[in-house]
Amino acid sequence: MSTDAIVLLREDHKEIRKLFRKFKNASSGAVAERGRVVEKIIAALTVHTYIENECMYPRVRELVPELEDDILESYEEHHVADVLVRELASMKPSDEHYTAKVTVLIENVDHHIDEEENEWFPKVRDKLGRKQLQEIGARLLESRKDAPTSPKQPSAVKKAVDAVVS
Ligand SMILES: [Fe+2]
Ligand SMILES: [Fe+2]
Repeated sequence: MSTDAIVLLREDHKEIRKLFRKFKNASSGAVAERGRVVEKIIAALTVHTYIENECMYPRVRELVPELEDDILESYEEHHVADVLVRELASMKPSDEHYTAKVTVLIENVDHHIDEEENEWFPKVRDKLGRKQLQEIGARLLESRKDAPTSPKQPSAVKKAVDAVVS
């Protein structure tokens, strides 16, 4: 299996977009089904954002300084997605604002993924060698093990730290 960081993240994007399509294809009457899809979207985005924030972004920022502005914008886009994900996690699928909030989340994340894939990932590939991308990919896989799957759940790292300090 390839551990190329960009390949791994693009695979995640594909899964996330598949879930987005599932949500859009579920009829508006299928409230429970939509709720189940959104639970999966929340889990997928929580993990994906975590590994990018913890691993991909800091490393790219360090190794490709000219992408600083793109990385900072991407962090902000993650923040917007995090806020929406947190709100959705505490809502019921039958809530009046639920579908609208999911739709806005999907629009935002779609735009964000487009920017990553079309604007700055190619520049990262140009600047970094295959070996460096594989090293980052291996770290992404490691940090996935610590990633929270829900905004309500602290990451394994935080849990470990909490256990030590408490
Ligand atoms: Fe991202
Ligand atoms: Fe991403």
